[in-house]
Amino acid sequence: MLTVLGIETSCDETAASVVTLDDGGTPAIRSNAVLSQIEEHAAFGGVVPEIAARAHVEALDGLIAAALADAGASLADVDAIAATAGPGLLGGLLVGLMTAKAIAHATGKPLIAVNHLEGHALTPRLTDGVGFPYLLLLVSGGHTQIVLVRGVGDYQRWATTIDDALGEAFDKTAKLLGLPHPGGPSVERAAHRGDPRRFAFPSPMKGAERPDFSFSGLKTAVRQAASSIAPLSEGDVADICAAFQAAVTAALADRVARALARFSAEFPYIEAPTLVTAGGVAANRAIRDALQGLCRDAGFAFIAPPLALCSDNAAMIAWAGIERLRAGLGDGDGMDIAPRSRWPLDGTSEPVVGFGRRGAKA
Ligand code: KG4
Ligand code: ZN
Repeated sequence: MLTVLGIETSCDETAASVVTLDDGGTPAIRSNAVLSQIEEHAAFGGVVPEIAARAHVEALDGLIAAALADAGASLADVDAIAATAGPGLLGGLLVGLMTAKAIAHATGKPLIAVNHLEGHALTPRLTDGVGFPYLLLLVSGGHTQIVLVRGVGDYQRWATTIDDALGEAFDKTAKLLGLPHPGGPSVERAAHRGDPRRFAFPSPMKGAERPDFSFSGLKTAVRQAASSIAPLSEGDVADICAAFQAAVTAALADRVARALARFSAEFPYIEAPTLVTAGGVAANRAIRDALQGLCRDAGFAFIAPPLALCSDNAAMIAWAGIERLRAGLGDGDGMDIAPRSRWPLDGTSEPVVGFGRRGAKA
């Protein structure tokens, strides 16, 4: 039996969780405490790094105590402490990593520094026991990537965004239209009432040979459409949101279809190929439905973890810690490990112009 305490503070969620793996290899999320800072940042239309770091300092101790209590565990029951060490906002990462170091030092338990993206990437193994290799579509506020997951610590990036992340595009569109932060859910809600055919927004990169994503041109098209008909009625806003969502869904579907075809060509012997999705944007119903349809057509299983495990949480960090321990990669992290605002999953992939510019969210 393995028991790991996970800590996540890379962006605007403070989170702590206890995850176990029993001797039969069955995992269990024993607790999953998350405190969102959305309220603190709402007035600024985005995450303010200093506010985030202070909020983590105030909340983290209490959340760790709550996570242990919910799990009916004490620090003595924990085999290791796993904390997000990057990528993300440095102030927040420092708070989580230093807290984890203090606990590790005081208890003599190992510290595992986890890449936040690895947490997202391995979540479908916690929820659905997916076997390697599989394809991951990571769509969040800071990342838009298609990654081949070959094993623990073994990733190959197949596509990334050359400018904005998809969640960022949702957030910027919402801001432009005067909808509340976070933008994704606001845009999705408005899109329900809108007519996607009223505006013909470009579906960026659609049909392009290069596998990457690009969303900044779409952002410009949205801005131009909005200013050409301002002042906007509620119906105008709904129509723009519907057209925006249709355009990004089509762009995503085009890129993902190519990746599925590449996976099938590279791994023809895999009988049950799987696409998994993670990141906050994976909560979007229209996007989920489109991905589901693509997978059905291509003979892939489609796995989207439950919403609470798609967006940022500490269960995925604890789980990545367990996976690393199990793979023998768990005790390499000494007390001198430092947080990293940038930390690509695939160390061999070429940096792409504009990619990770913000580097803040994952
Ligand atoms: O993974 P996540 O919780 O945090 C990080 O980015 O690390 O993702 C947050 C992002 C935000 O940009 C938010 O607007 C977007 O996910 N998002 C959505 C939806 N829910 C959250 N985007 C589109 N549709 C949604 N329903
Ligand atoms: Zn994330």
